[in-house]
Amino acid sequence: MKKSALQIARAAYQPKLPVTLTGAVKAVEGAPTQSVADQDDIKKLFPNTYGMPELRFEKNPSPAPGKPFNVGVILSGGQAPGGHNVICGLFDGIKKINKDSRLYGFLMGPGGLVDHQYKELTSDIIDEYRNTGGFDIIGSGRTKLEKKEQFDKGLEILKQLDIKALVIIGGDDSNTNAAVLAEYYKNIGAGVQVIGCPKTIDGDLKNEVVEASFGFDTATKVYSELIGNIQRDCFSAKKYWHFIKLMGRSASHIALECALQTQPNVCIISEEVEAKNQTLQDVVDYIAGIVAARAKQGNNFGTVLIPEGLIEFIPAMKSLIAELNDLLAKTPDFAQKSTAEQREFLSANLSKANAETFISLPEGVARQLTLDRDPHGNVQVSLIETEKLLSEMVGRRLAKMKAEGSYDGKFSALHHFFGYEGRCAAPSNFDADYCYALGYNAACLINAGVTGYISSLRNLTKPSVQWLAGGVPISMMFNMERRHGEMKPVIQKALVRLDGTPFQRFAAKRDDWAINTQYVFPGPIQYFGPAEVCDQPTLTLHYEHLDK
Ligand code: FBP
Repeated sequence: MKKSALQIARAAYQPKLPVTLTGAVKAVEGAPTQSVADQDDIKKLFPNTYGMPELRFEKNPSPAPGKPFNVGVILSGGQAPGGHNVICGLFDGIKKINKDSRLYGFLMGPGGLVDHQYKELTSDIIDEYRNTGGFDIIGSGRTKLEKKEQFDKGLEILKQLDIKALVIIGGDDSNTNAAVLAEYYKNIGAGVQVIGCPKTIDGDLKNEVVEASFGFDTATKVYSELIGNIQRDCFSAKKYWHFIKLMGRSASHIALECALQTQPNVCIISEEVEAKNQTLQDVVDYIAGIVAARAKQGNNFGTVLIPEGLIEFIPAMKSLIAELNDLLAKTPDFAQKSTAEQREFLSANLSKANAETFISLPEGVARQLTLDRDPHGNVQVSLIETEKLLSEMVGRRLAKMKAEGSYDGKFSALHHFFGYEGRCAAPSNFDADYCYALGYNAACLINAGVTGYISSLRNLTKPSVQWLAGGVPISMMFNMERRHGEMKPVIQKALVRLDGTPFQRFAAKRDDWAINTQYVFPGPIQYFGPAEVCDQPTLTLHYEHLDK
């Protein structure tokens, strides 16, 4: 494949490791841990891996010589910038421990482990992917590792390749599976460690012990660049309202970070909509009110940011989706029914209130809500065209206001959905360093002999050399949730905290941004240049640190 000039220059970038990881390390144990909720249930489900201590790495002045070992790696779920660097860091980490250690990549996600599809990742291959975006080095997939047969099938190939540890790079669901696999292998004495790495652009895999998932930094910078460009365009032409949906699943972290970066006229935060018990019409009225107020000043243009998961947070929709999830899980032949049969089936089987909500939805949205769930039971919110739904409803509301004499402007809407544009971008300096260090740190966790841990780096608002390295038991992040109609142990998703500084800063400014055009144009990610341009972490991370 032909390389771009940036790719060639970027290949030479040497990610900066935390100073602790630059030589041999020893693991220092902290106090035993507990899950964030439902402790009794989780303890019963994870008898071998529950309660393990947090680990912190310190420099080891007198290390024993490391023995060679083989490691397997899996990229799981949606792409996120920096995944290749996790693998490069892991490779360099295991080679540093012993140059004869080997790394195998399972192809196209967890399915590669079960189907025995793999390739050895040698230094020639690794060097081609340093500091690049994408997951194409081994591919990714969404197969859910949850059944004993899958675990046993995976163990066959792990044994055949003499693999001592498996590293699963994934989001909350994939790390949940990593913990379940670790527990199973430990229980049967398989002799295979399982280590997780926190990946997802959505930013919803974070908590007291994991400060950020990788990819959020780069993806939000790409979206903020695009939003800034759109804002400059609409400020120049002054004739369009841009409705911009942003990826991120349920949580609104991406929308919030982009709003902090670009200062749009409107940004909806799903978590706030839910907390205020707002209806879809309330959200529409809020946007229409701002459009009308700007029109009064002759400003018939603006930007509206919409998190892709919004629909799930509107109480009536949330209740409908929860019932649909259970109903669809129990009706495997649903997809084979005709559209008319599906509507009839749902009207007959949904509760009265949910059936009414369902019938009131525009046909396209109703259909999108009944599409297949992903293997983890999530509604595929990226397929629901909320940006069009909202702009249509705002248009209708404005027409009514015009008839009543409370609005006298022009409303012409354009639609955008930013998601895939940012997931495989060349990682920012932050993500390049963070990912490389996460992978390198995972090698140290393997060498420390632990299983069921997630690679953890903290102090992330400081320069990377000052980051603190260690590991955290995944079971510590668990609570029990209803999935596919059953209660399951899962990592608690981090939603936007309305009492947190990132949201509070936004809430304090939004009325000003709504009426007085205050756009910021962040421009493209810079890889070379002054630190204040190239090395800044997200505002979310920065403000969250103020809360600590
Ligand atoms: P992960 O949770 O696996 O990191 O995926 C993130 C994401 O990009 C979401 O923001 C989005 O809703 C989803 O993936 C889209 O899935 P797909 O790549 O299967 O279209």
